[in-house]
Formats: sequence, C-alpha cells, structure tokens
Amino acid sequence: MRTHPIFDHVEIGLGTWSWGDRLVWSYGNGYSDQDIEEVFSLAIASGIRFFDTAEVYGRGKSEQFLGKLLKTTSEKTVIATKFMPFPWRLSRKSFTRALRASLDRLELPAVALYQIHWPMPPVSIPTWMECMLEAHQQGLIEAVGVSNYDLRQTLVASDFLTKEGLPLASTQMEYHLLERRIEKNGLMKECADRGIKIIAYSPLAMGILTGKYSSENPPSGVRASQYNREFLGRIQPLILMMKKLGMNHDGKTASQVALNWAMGKGVIPIPGAKNAHQLEMNVGALGWHLTEDEMSMLDEMSDTVCKRGV
Ligand SMILES: NC(=O)c1ccc[n+]([C@@H]2O[C@H](COP(=O)([O-])OP(=O)(O)OC[C@H]3O[C@@H](n4cnc5c(N)ncnc54)[C@H](OP(=O)(O)O)[C@@H]3O)[C@@H](O)[C@H]2O)c1
Repeated sequence: MRTHPIFDHVEIGLGTWSWGDRLVWSYGNGYSDQDIEEVFSLAIASGIRFFDTAEVYGRGKSEQFLGKLLKTTSEKTVIATKFMPFPWRLSRKSFTRALRASLDRLELPAVALYQIHWPMPPVSIPTWMECMLEAHQQGLIEAVGVSNYDLRQTLVASDFLTKEGLPLASTQMEYHLLERRIEKNGLMKECADRGIKIIAYSPLAMGILTGKYSSENPPSGVRASQYNREFLGRIQPLILMMKKLGMNHDGKTASQVALNWAMGKGVIPIPGAKNAHQLEMNVGALGWHLTEDEMSMLDEMSDTVCKRGV
C-alpha cells in the first residue's frame, strides 16, 4: 500500500538525538556546535531532507539546533519530532502545549510528522490520537507517527486514525542487524499491508555496527551496559561478513553495509552523526544495492550471532 507522500523520495534521514545530549552521547566532549553545523550543511548538500528530533533530545536543544540550522537552507525539508507522554501529562492541553513548545524551538509553523515517542500509561492511545487529529485540523502537523509501539498498540492507533480519515503514517522502531524483532513479530508485515512507513532508529546499533567497537575496545557510558564485551566478541563474525561484503561494492564500510541492508528491507534508516566525517561515511550507503544473496547471508549471520539475544 502507498505510504504518506511526506516519505516520497526519502531513502535515508538524519537522527539528531546527539545534538545537545550529554547523558548518552556526551555532547561537548569530542564534538561541538561547529561539528553539528557541519553535519547539517553536509546533509543538505548530500541530498538528505528528512530530519528526526524529539522534545526530550538534549532537553529541547536538538530542536533548537535544528530550528537555527533550517534557517540556513532554502531546500524543502521534512521535519519529524516527538511528544513524550510522561505519566504526569494527563490532559489534552499538555499535548498542545508540548507541540507548540516544539514548534517554537524549531521556529516552524508546523511539522511534517509528529510522533508519540513511547507508549506510556495512563492516557489511552485513542486519546493521544484524538489530540493528533486536532493538531492536524489546526494545521500544526501534516502526518501522524508512533514510536516503540508493539503490534497491538500500533493497530489500536492505526484503526482509530483510519476511521477518522487520517491514516497512521509511520512507526519509528529500533531496527538493525542486531535487532530484528519487528520482522518476526508481524509488525513489519502489518505496516507494509497498511502503508505505514517504518523509520529505523539506531540503525548502526548506536555505533556498534560500524565495527569500531570490540571486546578490546568497548564503548563507554550507557552503551557499555547494553553492548557488553561478551556480546561484542560474539558479533564479530557478522562485522567481518559486513566488511567482506562491502569489498564486493567498491570497498563499502561496515556502516554503509548496515544502512544499505536496512534500506534493502524497505525502511528509512535515520543514523546519527557526530561530525561531518561520520555523515559523509553514512551517505555512502546510498546509490548501490546489496544483492539478494548478500541480504540473505547477512540475515542468516545476524540470526546466528543474535541467537542468545542482545
Ligand atoms: N524513537 C526512539 O525511541 C529513538 C531511540 C533512539 C534513537 N532514535 C533516533 O534514531 C537516531 C539514530 O539513532 P542513534 O543515534 O541511537 O544510533 P545510530 O544512528 O545507530 O548511531 C549513531 C552513533 O554512531 C556513531 N557513528 C555514526 N556514524 C558513524 C560512522 N560512519 N563511523 C563511526 N561511527 C559512527 C556515532 O557515535 P560515536 O562516535 O560515539 O560512536 C553516532 O552518534 C537518533 O538520533 C534519533 O533521532 C529514536
């Protein structure tokens, strides 16, 4: 089924979680405001038009960066941001207030895509979807998305919106060679049937699929607990295969293979980049295709190394 026109011609996007985030990404340590400016201008020069942010990234800093940087280009961009349904946000007013605050930080009259960041009680999914409808009627958002919703929750949102004549446009899920649950639990198939675009977040597994981390050189901070030394050791056959397959395509890197694999699955990956060099590398995932055999080999190897779960 056809997906929402905001995704026409969007093959890849840019994730901006690290713009201003100290807790996970150590903003200010190893990358600066200037790096962020360079990433944005290279993204535009490279044809990237889809940018993903959220009100919680860097406590609003990511949206502020994006707002300032958008003023430096005349290209038409597709901006996606997110509402966090914190348990203390109980009223519809809190939704409108959050959306308006995001638009203020982004310095925009409207966004292309507004997403519910996580499913969180106590407010029901239909209530938030009603708020989405209202925001759409007010011209503040073009399309509706969800994120981190399981299959049941996605269907609740999708059924509700379809009845109201504004079909759910997208769902943003963690998806990469080390996390393929959506392929196996029916979500991906249901989204394809309903024309719901899947936006793949952390498509490089927070940098792990670049191949630069190993049991001898693990990442630090929050990532260290998610991807421990044992796991990093276990996935090396996959990393090796990615590098080898990249050689069949003019020496593409593991990161480029990881992103190309995701695009080959029909999703939009939104890798983050802390500097222009990383962005440049990631853009190298465009303009070529892994073969069907190579896709299958990667699937099999990913199943093998992930057998015991991430
Ligand atoms: N909806 C949600 O709940 C949710 C959750 C997470 C993310 N997201 C979205 O998804 C976007 C991307 O996910 P992510 O930032 O978690 O992870 P990612 O894109 O998988 O990894 C990004 C990180 O990998 C490293 N990296 C990127 N390109 C590289 C390259 N070419 N060579 C070497 N290292 C490279 C950088 O970190 P180091 O240099 O420090 O290794 C970079 O910050 C986010 O910005 C956000 O927009 C959404």
